[in-house]
Amino acid sequence: MTIASMQGVLKRYGSYVALDYINLDIHKGEIVGLLGPNGAGKTTLIQTLTGMLPFEKGEIALFGQSKNPFSHENKEKIGLVTQEVAVFEELTAKESLLFFAGVYGLKGNEKKKRVEEALDFVGLREQANKVPTKFSGGMKRRLNIACALTHRPKFLIMDEPTVGIDPQSRNHILESVKKLRDNGTTILYTTHYMEEVQEIASRVVIMDQGQVIQEGTVQQLIKTIQHEEKVSFDVAAPDQVPVKLLEGIIGVQKVTVTGSQITVISAAGAGNLDRVLSVVKEHSSVLAIQADKPNLEDVFLTLTGKQLRDKGE
Ligand SMILES: Nc1ncnc2c1ncn2[C@@H]1O[C@H](COP(=O)(O)OP(=O)(O)OP(=O)(O)O)[C@@H](O)[C@H]1O
Ligand SMILES: [Mg+2]
Repeated sequence: MTIASMQGVLKRYGSYVALDYINLDIHKGEIVGLLGPNGAGKTTLIQTLTGMLPFEKGEIALFGQSKNPFSHENKEKIGLVTQEVAVFEELTAKESLLFFAGVYGLKGNEKKKRVEEALDFVGLREQANKVPTKFSGGMKRRLNIACALTHRPKFLIMDEPTVGIDPQSRNHILESVKKLRDNGTTILYTTHYMEEVQEIASRVVIMDQGQVIQEGTVQQLIKTIQHEEKVSFDVAAPDQVPVKLLEGIIGVQKVTVTGSQITVISAAGAGNLDRVLSVVKEHSSVLAIQADKPNLEDVFLTLTGKQLRDKGE
């Protein structure tokens, strides 16, 4: 069963194309990892898919309905964790959750039960009666997630829920997402962190410049670039290494410089390592060399020519 689908969706901000005729299907029980760099259009996709933003062309269907996808009934089946954490600073965690449960029409004992459930779920029971001004970033995020859960959504959308939080909260969130999936919730999970996608996603959708540029399971995506070899050098003087010269070596497909690391991707069996190493060494001393198996980050780099994360993030 298809929970959500976008067919040929065009969304522009003025003349800027933010969603470039997007096609996307999300099936029941999936965790779809939506991966893309800053500005790829992930948040725009989520806001369009949930009816928060209008779109110009194409079709959106939610829970099999394309005529009136954003009906009240459909919206009640969705939980949305927005990219910006928004919590009521003056309400305790529990009061916030009671408020949201009320918005979703829950009442009496059922409301109380769902609030306790959500507090347990995100591991905030001990903080239930505290106001979020005393919370860490990770705790605020967990409260934010709990607010999207009291109504037990069938479709949960999370927009970069683990940015800037402590590892403990991060693990808690990832475990919670897997638990929700096991209980039958369908999840769209947006992130810059390929490790997270590798851990939880049943399918990965890679987005760049408003387009879906590749999709598949992690294994399928890695296979698409397994005809490649990757070697990275930590160098003392990255500015001195002539990228153009490296790119000219037979078999070399791509050269990237990130901080002090030079990464050279070559066709499999290119047999050019001697030559690559000697060019690098001519211009800078080499502190370390690593040859890695490709991962999702490399798939992304190969497809877009960009790192997933901005430097220093
Ligand atoms: N309200 C707006 N008006 C004009 N341009 C916008 C608006 N919102 C987003 N954009 C532009 O649309 C593009 C997609 O933005 P969006 O926020 O969807 O990207 P994103 O993939 O969520 O990025 P990030 O990872 O930084 O959250 C960006 O180039 C952004 O500058
Ligand atoms: Mg965003």
